[in-house]
Amino acid sequence: MKKITKAVIPAAGLGTRFLPATKAMPKEMLPIIDIPTIQYIVEEAVQSGITDLLIITSRSKKAIEDHFDINVELECALTKSGKTQVISELRKISDMVNVQFIRQQEQKGLGHAVYHAKTFAAGEPFAVLLGDDVVHSEVPCLKQMIDVYEKHPGTILGVQTVSYDNISKYGALDCSKVEDRVYRVKDMVEKPKKEEAPSNIAVLGRYILEPEIFDALEKTKPGAGGEIQLTDAIKMLCESGKVYGYDFIGRRYDVGDKFGYLQAMVEYALRRDDLGDVFSEYLKEIISSL
Ligand code: G1P
Repeated sequence: MKKITKAVIPAAGLGTRFLPATKAMPKEMLPIIDIPTIQYIVEEAVQSGITDLLIITSRSKKAIEDHFDINVELECALTKSGKTQVISELRKISDMVNVQFIRQQEQKGLGHAVYHAKTFAAGEPFAVLLGDDVVHSEVPCLKQMIDVYEKHPGTILGVQTVSYDNISKYGALDCSKVEDRVYRVKDMVEKPKKEEAPSNIAVLGRYILEPEIFDALEKTKPGAGGEIQLTDAIKMLCESGKVYGYDFIGRRYDVGDKFGYLQAMVEYALRRDDLGDVFSEYLKEIISSL
């Protein structure tokens, strides 16, 4: 079986939920403390065995390309001031993975964005990681999914149960349990109304796709929100019986949402060696003074 070494990160969205911060800055560059959210996603991919990455961008996303390149001027200035440790930290980012970029000229939906990966995938299975979903876990979320793929080759969707009040934000599964944490998907609905949702098992920003997805995307008509939905293309593959949902282990943050972003910022700070203790004391003090 072909090992999964390629991953795609769609990062062309406008980031309207974070305006005005995202007027001149890509939403993927919003930091959780001092690390841009997209770097967390790339690190998860690399720690899962990904060696080749395609980031799908758009006109206003040059900062993402710069972040994964070297910055000669900055390195010269840091060398002069003797900050060589910082340089090696920065080099780790640009050396982490072989990364390519492609521009989506019009924002016609996630399915349309993923279709741009056809040449990159070159007939091999690949992973898709969405930048709005950051997952903190012992074993990287994508690595867990690759392990499932090796046992159940097919399409693997990273899922978790959400409240029925929130299901309309996601792709929802109609599925049956195959084994612990693994479901066989019979059908899917993109952003269903609460009362029409087939379940409250939601797709949360991680996919392993096989090359068949591109034929399905070619046949996919605009769906929810008038966009070409990845969910609608995956739906077409369900008949094969090889579409699985995997309930991944980890804490997932919706960093595309203001409250989710705030949760990520607080919890990542609490976990940090350099900030955890002092920040926790500060939070206790401030809460007790309310
Ligand atoms: C996308 C997908 C949806 C999925 C969600 C996960 O929606 O279309 O199926 O559940 O990501 O975060 P978006 O959040 O881009 O509207």
